Parts: sequence; structure tokens; C-alpha cells
Amino acid sequence: MSAPTMRAIQVHAFGGPEVLTYERVPLPEPAPGEVLIRVHAAGLNPPDWYARTGFATLPSTIRPELRLPFTPGSDVSGVVAKVGSGVTQWRVGDPVFGLVRFPQLNNGGKGYAEYTTSPSAHLARKPANLSHIQAAAVPMSALTAYQFLFDHIKPLPGTTVVINGAAGGVGHFLVQLAKLRQARVIAIASGRHEAFLHKIGADEFIDYTTTDVQHVLRDVDHLIDTVGGPQGHRFVPLVRTGGTISPVFFGEYHREEAAHRRITLPAGQVHSDGHQMNQLAHLIEGGRICVGVDSTYSLPDAAKAHERAELGHIQGKIVLSVVEE
Ligand SMILES: NC(=O)c1ccc[n+]([C@@H]2O[C@H](COP(=O)([O-])OP(=O)(O)OC[C@H]3O[C@@H](n4cnc5c(N)ncnc54)[C@H](OP(=O)(O)O)[C@@H]3O)[C@@H](O)[C@H]2O)c1
Repeated sequence: MSAPTMRAIQVHAFGGPEVLTYERVPLPEPAPGEVLIRVHAAGLNPPDWYARTGFATLPSTIRPELRLPFTPGSDVSGVVAKVGSGVTQWRVGDPVFGLVRFPQLNNGGKGYAEYTTSPSAHLARKPANLSHIQAAAVPMSALTAYQFLFDHIKPLPGTTVVINGAAGGVGHFLVQLAKLRQARVIAIASGRHEAFLHKIGADEFIDYTTTDVQHVLRDVDHLIDTVGGPQGHRFVPLVRTGGTISPVFFGEYHREEAAHRRITLPAGQVHSDGHQMNQLAHLIEGGRICVGVDSTYSLPDAAKAHERAELGHIQGKIVLSVVEE
């Protein structure tokens, strides 16, 4: 008898969106401590396109090794299809969502597929009030926002939190979670996102395409930068002495001036965490945070989804639909 197969996106050579091909591949088996998930939707994240290009923009010292071919994707929402030995937390048929094996990734992630495996501890029950598409938009971005605000920065009520790149995947969860911490939230994004950001709780909005932040911000307690790059330097004089600047992506921030003014740079790499996913699920079910979906593509159209991502200006998340809802 031939081995069971499924359909998945594969990358055989590093390159542009066109290298994402839809193919038959072997059906994975859950290892001990893992479950097999029938994926209903898979969320896109920047590491998916970094992997597609062979992490070409990362310094070679921190470049993860990838064996070709591989299936990208680490955010999934679906239903437990099989339970590996030793798993007591989940049963076949349970609706689950999670960030799977991050940052280890196990050669690319394997989320853009009809089925994928996950350590049972990386998952939480899918919020009942979300579709699988909305749920697949949550894991990496919301966990990043949660870990920055609840593990790394911990802003106190009444402090000012400025979020650069506020409308994107991570940014729109940062806005909502910073409001939950009772911060005053100032969102920086391009003008098209103003109504969206006010709707999800931003107290103030700065359109970076028309306003120079250096003219309107001062004495900021916490600045969280999801954009990064050399433009980061301009934020240092805007943060109060003893405040924080948190690079979500690699950014440059006059380190000497920051140190002189006791500005610290709390940050970290997001990691899979089923317990924190569960906290997020409760907040979503309680109507405390909502999910922005920029656009949806079917699994075979993963290349089109990556083309959309390359255009930038994402509002919320891009998601692949694997099972039609
Ligand atoms: N540390 C970690 O563990 C971690 C975890 C997740 C992601 N990341 C990194 O964080 C970054 C953001 O990820 P994401 O998923 O949120 O990306 P995303 O969904 O593409 O969002 C980026 C947002 O930035 C905005 N933007 C672009 N240029 C800007 C500028 N000059 N000033 C202000 N806003 C600008 C874009 O829209 P507009 O230009 O229209 O406003 C977009 O909404 C990525 O580089 C990713 O690799 C790091």
C-alpha cells in the first residue's frame, strides 16, 4: 500500500513568491507529545518570506539553516486529527490554534499544508467567536505583542506607549494589549489606517507620511518599533530619560545617547507558548481584543498572498484558507 499523502506548499529553490508551489507530499505523523492538525487556515508572517528567500537579509551568523524543499508557515488554526502518544490535553476533533515550533521551526514551519504536526503544548483551544481564518491571524503577531507588553516592557497604567507600525500584524495587537494595560496609546502608521487604529483603541494617531514624529512627540515613556532600520535613531530624543525603546525588528538607536539617558531597549524573540495562547483566547472570547484580517487567499494561491505581502501597508494579517468555511 502506498504511503498517505496530502497537499502542501513547497519551496524547492530560494526566490520570489513564484517559488511557492502546490504539491502532493507525504502526510506527517505526530511524534510522542504531538498532535496532527487538519489545518483549516494558516496565517502569514514575515519569517515565511524571510525563509522563502533563504534568510538572505539576515546576518550569516544568525541565519537559520534550511534544507530544500521545505513547507513554510508557523501559524495555524484547525482541528486535531490524530493524537500522538503521551498527549492527554487534546482529543480528535478539538478546534485548536497556535504558533508551532517557533523559533526552532523544524525546517521552515510546515503550516502551509492540509495537515501539520505540533507539540501539544504550543496550542490552545480556538476562540469560539472566531472563524479559523481569524484564528490563524492571531498566533505569532499576538504572542509577540503579548510577550513585549507582559514579559519585556510591562508598562504601568497611565504611561504613554507609542507604537510604530501600529496597523500591521504585531502593531494592531500591541495597540489593543497596551490599552488593556491602561496605557495612553499613540499609533504611528500611514493615513489609510487612521479609522482602523482609533476603532481598536488608539488614543492618538500620527500619519508618518505627512507628519514628522520629531515635531509632535516628546517625553515618551515606552516606544515600540515594529519597523526598525536606520530610522530608529530619530526616536531616541523623543523618549524620556529612563524610558524604553523596544525593537520588534532590527533597528538602530543611538546606543550611546540612549545609555547616557538611561533609556533601555527591552526586547526578545517571540516563542511558542500554549499557555499564553490560552490567555489570548480568553481575551478574544471576552471581546477585549479583536483580529484584523487584511486579506485571504486559498492555499494553492500562496504565491499571490506573498505578492500581497510584498506590497506592504498591511492592515492586520494575511491568511491562507485551507478548508472553505
Ligand atoms: N521580535 C520578534 O520576535 C518578532 C516577532 C514578529 C515579527 N517581528 C518583526 O516585526 C516586524 C513587523 O512584523 P508584522 O508582522 O507586524 O509586519 P506587517 O504586518 O507587515 O506590518 C508592518 C506595518 O508597518 C507599517 N509601516 C511600514 N513602513 C512604516 C514606516 N516607515 N513607519 C511606520 N509604519 C510603517 C505598514 O503599514 P503602513 O506603512 O501603511 O503604516 C504595516 O502595517 C517584521 O520585521 C517582523 O520580522 C519580530
